Formats: sequence, C-alpha cells, structure tokens
Amino acid sequence: MKYGYFDDKNREYVITRPDTPLPWINYLGCQDYFGIISATAGGYSYYRDARLRRITRGRYNNVPFDFGGRYIYLRDDTSGEFWSPSWMPTRGALEQYECRHGMGYSTISSTLNGIAASTRYFVPLDETLEIWQLTLTNNRPEPAELSVFSSVEFCLWDAMDDSTNFQRNFSIGQVEIDDEVIYHKTEYRERRNHFAWFACSEKLAGFDTQREAFLGPWRGWDKPAAVERGESAGSVAHGWSPIGSHHVRARFAPGETRQIIYVLGYNENKVEEKFDPPGSQTVNKKTVKPLIAKYRERANVDAAFERLRAYWDGLLGIYQVSTPDEHTDRMVNIWNAYQCMATFNMSRSASTFESGIGRGLGFRDSNQDLLGFVHMVPERARQRILDLAATQLPTGGAYHQYQPLTKKGNNDVGGNFNDDPHWLIVGVGAYLKETGDWGILDEPVMFDSAPGSEQPLYEHLRRSFRYTLERLGPHGLPLIGRADWNDCLNLNCFSDTPGQSFQTTTSKDGKVAESVFIAGLFVLAAKELAAIATRRGQKGDAKACLEEAARMDETVRKHGWDGEWFVRAYDDFGRKIGSNECEEGKIFIESQGFCVLAGIGLEDGMARKALDSVRKHLATPHGIVLQQPAYSRYYIEYGEISSYPPGYKENAGIFCHNNPWVIIGETMLGNGDAAHDYYSRINPSARETISEVHRCEPYVYAQMIAGRDAPTHGEAKNSWLTGTAAWNYYAITQWILGIRPEYEGLRIAPVVPQGWKGFNATRKFRGVTYRIAVSRKGTGNKLSLKVDGKAIDGSVIPVPTDGRKDVKIEAVIG
Ligand code: BGC
Ligand code: NOJ
Repeated sequence: MKYGYFDDKNREYVITRPDTPLPWINYLGCQDYFGIISATAGGYSYYRDARLRRITRGRYNNVPFDFGGRYIYLRDDTSGEFWSPSWMPTRGALEQYECRHGMGYSTISSTLNGIAASTRYFVPLDETLEIWQLTLTNNRPEPAELSVFSSVEFCLWDAMDDSTNFQRNFSIGQVEIDDEVIYHKTEYRERRNHFAWFACSEKLAGFDTQREAFLGPWRGWDKPAAVERGESAGSVAHGWSPIGSHHVRARFAPGETRQIIYVLGYNENKVEEKFDPPGSQTVNKKTVKPLIAKYRERANVDAAFERLRAYWDGLLGIYQVSTPDEHTDRMVNIWNAYQCMATFNMSRSASTFESGIGRGLGFRDSNQDLLGFVHMVPERARQRILDLAATQLPTGGAYHQYQPLTKKGNNDVGGNFNDDPHWLIVGVGAYLKETGDWGILDEPVMFDSAPGSEQPLYEHLRRSFRYTLERLGPHGLPLIGRADWNDCLNLNCFSDTPGQSFQTTTSKDGKVAESVFIAGLFVLAAKELAAIATRRGQKGDAKACLEEAARMDETVRKHGWDGEWFVRAYDDFGRKIGSNECEEGKIFIESQGFCVLAGIGLEDGMARKALDSVRKHLATPHGIVLQQPAYSRYYIEYGEISSYPPGYKENAGIFCHNNPWVIIGETMLGNGDAAHDYYSRINPSARETISEVHRCEPYVYAQMIAGRDAPTHGEAKNSWLTGTAAWNYYAITQWILGIRPEYEGLRIAPVVPQGWKGFNATRKFRGVTYRIAVSRKGTGNKLSLKVDGKAIDGSVIPVPTDGRKDVKIEAVIG
C-alpha cells in the first residue's frame, strides 16, 4: 500500500493523504537556519543548534500525532466555517489534499468548498529566515470573504529548559509588535542578543501574541477562539506562552488568486547595538527591516525560491546516473544525496525520533556522514573536519559529541568510545580523495578546544592511530572502552540500576573487553593513513602504519576468527561474543562487514566464508539483521544491546547503517548480484509499495527495520538521521556503480548485477565532468577502459593536466 508517489522529474515525493502511518517529514534550510516540516505542516525551526537556539515549539511524544507547527487557518467569514489547509490541527475532511516534499521545500495544498490553498514553505539560501508562501484561489462562482490566520508558538530558546522549567518560563516571555511585525524577544533584555520576528505581506486586521488569548481558555489548537469568532484578540504576551498570529481579511472575486507571504526570521544584533534608541529596552530592528521589506515582495520570494532550486540542481548534478533500476536512480540522483545533506547538517539531533534536545553532533557520526556529503560542498566538509578535530583530546581520544553552537566537546557524554578516533582518518581520507586538497593536513588544529595546543591536522591523525596501539587487550585486540560503533555493546558497564545511561556508566576498568570490530576499523584506518603518509613523504609513518595493520590482521585471524565467521568481541571475563560457543548472539554483522572492508581474509577465502555465513544466518527479505540469535534476556555483562526486546535496534534489528558494509564486501569479492540484492532490500523506494509495513517515509532511509524476531518484522523506525544515508550512498555510488574517487584520480570499477546491460553516469570531480558509459559484454567484472577514445591500463583515470574539463569514458565490463 502507498500513501503517495514519486515525482522524479520535479524531485518531489507527493503525499496524497495526510494520515501517513508516521509523520512523513522534510527539512527546510541547509546552512544555519533549519526546520523540520511534516506533511501536515507540523515541526519546528531552529538556528544552528536544535537544543540551544530553538525558535518555535513542537510537541514531543505523540507519534503518529505530530503536533506544533506552522499552522494556517482559513475562515469563511460568511458561514463562519474554518479549517486548516494542511489538515492539522483542525483535521476536518478536505476535498483534495497533497503535500510535495522537495529539495529544501515543502508545498502543502488542499481544497475545501471551492477555496484552494497551497503553501510553499522554504528557507532562502544565505538567510536566517523561513518563508511560507500561501496562494489562495476562489474557485466558487461567487465572491468569497475569507479570514486568514497564521500561527507559530515561540520556544524560549533553550528547548530543554523550555519544556521543563515552567516556574521561571511562565514569567519571562516578552514580545514587541511594531509596524504589524511580531517580535519575540524573551531574555533579550538581559544576556541574549538574538530575537525572532514574524511578518506578513498584508495589512493586518489583527494579531495575537499570547497563546491563551488566541486559543481561548481550555481550548486546543484545533478550535482557536480567535479563529472561531473571526477576530484576533490583539494580545501582547507578558510571560506565559508567546505566540505569533496574524489575522488578514480578504475578499476574493470568483476565480481570483492571491498570495499572502509570511516570513519568520531569526536575528542577532551586535551587543553594543541591541537597543534602539540606545538606553531603551526596545529591540533595534534596523538590521531586519530591510529583510522584512524584501520578503514581503512576491518577486523577491519567487527569485529566492528559484535560487534554491538552482542550488540543488547544482549539488545533485555532481553525480547523476541512469541504470536499469529506477529505485537505484531515484535514490542516487535525488533522495539519498538529499538525505546526506540532512545528516551532515543535523547529525542525529532533530527528527521525528530525535528531540533535538539530547544530542549534539557525534564525532563518529559526523565523520561517517562525510562519506556521502563531501562531494557536494567540500568547503563545508573541510570546516567540519577541522571542527571535529579541534575537539579531539591530546591522547587521540575523542569526545563522543560536540555542540555545534559552541563547537566544544560535550562533557556530559564524555569519551572513551574506542572506535571514535579512527573515523577521523576515514573522514579525512574521503575528503582528500574527493578534493586533492593536501593543504588541509597542515592546518593548525587545537586539541580539546584549547588555544595554544594547535598541531597540524596530520598530527591528529597520527594520534588517532596511536590511541588504539596504546589500548590493546589480552589478545592484542583493541580494548572496546565504553563501546565501539555499536553504542549498545557496553562491555564495561555492568549496569543494574534502572534509568542509568548505558553510554556514560562504566564500572569496570576496561582492561579486558576487546573489540574485533575496532580491529577491522583499525586495519582499514591504518592503511588509509599509510596511503596519506606516503603521499606526504612521511615514509616512516607509512611503514609503521602498514606494519601495525599487518600485525592486527594477524591477530584477527588468530583470535578473531571463529571457524565460519569473525568473532565480534571479548567480554570482561575474556569470553567470546559472536561465536558458535555462545548461547545467543553467535554471529554479528559488524565484524563480518568491517573485517572484509578492511581487506582481512580477502585472499584466503576467510572473507568469502564470513559473507556466506551472513547470508546463511543474518539475511532476511527486509535486510540483514545485526546478530543472531537475538538476546532473549538482559545480560548485565553486555549492556544495552540486550535491553532491547528481540528484533529491535541493536538486538537483532536490521540496522541499515551496517548493511552497506556487507554490500561493499560483496563487491570486493566481485559479487554484483548479491551486493545489489542486499542494497535493494533496504532501499526505501523499493519498499514504497509496502508502506503499511515499512511505515516510515519511502524517500529516505531509516536507521532500523525490525528484524525477524520482532512481531513487526519489516517495520522501519528512526528515519532520516542515520549513518545509513552516507553508507548506502557510498556503497551504491562508489562500489556497486564503482565510480570512486582515489588520491590519484577517479576510479571506474563497477560491480553491478549480471542482468544489467550497462549504465550511464555523469560525475563532476575536481572541476572536470566525466561522462561515463558502461556496457556489459560478459558476466564478470573484468574491465577495459577508454578515455576520450583512447584505451588506458588500469581503472584509475588521472585528472587531466591539459585543461580538459569534459572527459568521455567508455567502460566495458565482462
Ligand atoms: C541506541 C543507539 C544509539 C545510542 C546513542 C542507544 O539507545 O540504541 O542506536 O547510538 O543510544 O546514545
Ligand atoms: C546510532 C549512533 O548514532 C551511531 O553512532 C551508532 O554507531 C549506531 N547507533 C549503532 O549503535
């Protein structure tokens, strides 16, 4: 069953009924000002940091009811009937409804009683504001007298405090109304220098800024008193709950169309210029007035929208493909790339499943996000790398998270996730291969955000490498610390207290439990660092990295191989996890995927055996589960992984983030059919027709699909903000389609299904456009390449040195 359809030409997903199984959302903004928007106009906005600079409120914990948003009410002033054109919050029947989620915008349209309403929500590039462009058409044969009410509920900036500290918050709300613009300025009079503003293009019939005055006592947003009576109260909020609502009255001739534009903005004033006149308590509005004037004009709004469109044309144009599989094309060309932008921007902070309060940007997560993002805006990737590295500790360890607003490591969560440091090497490797910007390695970067501690970025990578060598366990495998990639494998935690955080509690000194996953990651990162060091002329470093990688490879074979697959870890008692010896959790996906990715056992059949075991024990029609058998009870020595009911999340759920490791592994072993088959099982577009089972958005990946042990096998959760986006993008674009940036140029090495006759792609890489035509002549993956008509050896195409900007590649595989 479907709830809409893909409109690939317009790069939109069109939702045709508002009661989707879960809120199906989109993101607005891609620089500093962001918003979540659902198909029923729910969601909230924030500046940079979803917790610390929340502009508007959303209500949590109601899923699938998605509440708090950018709501508009229409009222027929002749009959008194009123409704929300986005269905929520009045939820009355609409004659027609449609939401188009596009690249950085959403348009929600509906019709009722001959009144068509369509609102396009977007954030213009380079602005810290959002626009709601409402088009109203009177399709009735007679004139229509309408009242139009807007509404937002302001958040008192710190979203955590806002939803808890009522004893204070009910007394601090402040607004100003000036020239029909509503200004939200809570705490501006004291230490804040930022405020929000909400403007409308039309002359107002009234306004409200106090929630209770707008809604009426004991009423909800589905039936605001002001809307019901067709008249705002003109309230000015003092304390309680500041809102913004404009009331516009308009008469529409038969067939007439008009636009109303709403602009919600965020602004910071210089501290010395906060007030106007100086010495007063009145917000200085000089900086925002020109903006308000600008975006009250439709032509400027249309131009801003066209710019946004062109921006996305440019970004998506970097990698376009045409293959025999529409789901591959759609994800590569549109949605997977788009999701990678969202994960880069939000990390794991704000979505239907992340409150925006709990987490900053993850060190591990943000480095991996680069894999799917770096080709789009390399300058931003560069900055992100430098920001992440600046939070690294002098030991080479990392804070697990940092707050994007302060760019400082988050002490509440701390560190000792022993895989973290290596992801920096992986991220920097991806950046260097994409850009060839070797200068980044010489950038001076602080440790632990401490001025004076700067060392070249390259030194940070060396410390990442050493970090593991200084933390080896009894078998010579890396100690796991608090956890590795699997945040829920908490082998030093031993938590017996309800509510205790599995991620921050540690009761063991951590000198025994080891991770085979980190061993694989270490081998991969050490080889990467060796490649970097070699090209930097640091031969000694390169040698050391390769030697240690080889040593670890050996150790894994010796202590990390179970006979049919790779062991997952050793617990605090020195017992195996992920072994045939175990009662439950005999085989895990992570060590199979990552050891193969690292190249361990490629030559001697170990890798093949491991992936065959994955197929045998872990593969399901909905994707590959994390481990089997699922843990049926709580194991204090394993931690959170066993806290989940079987089939969910890390306890044998299909963790879509790590499926690509197996997919890539299959390509490394030359098995394009298996790789693409696994890819398709979790491809959201390929799952669109089972939306009633999958339940999350069919246009983006979800972190998890319930595994075969769950009663809801096949049901997805935690859509949007997941490493799944970057890893699947990386797997399909670089390993299956095989168009892969390398230090010396672009590699073409497709490993596609045997049934594919070929495919075409365009890839922009280091300022050159490569037009690639791949055709199949046999069933294998052997490659012959012609570059601009000339046959070349090998599979890496060096960047042209003669100034050519357009390169034609013909690849024959077979
Ligand atoms: C989740 C993990 C997540 C961790 C982050 C756990 O509850 O299961 O997927 O990485 O929280 O704190
Ligand atoms: C989600 C976290 O964001 C990520 O860092 C982690 O690797 C996975 N969960 C697995 O636990």
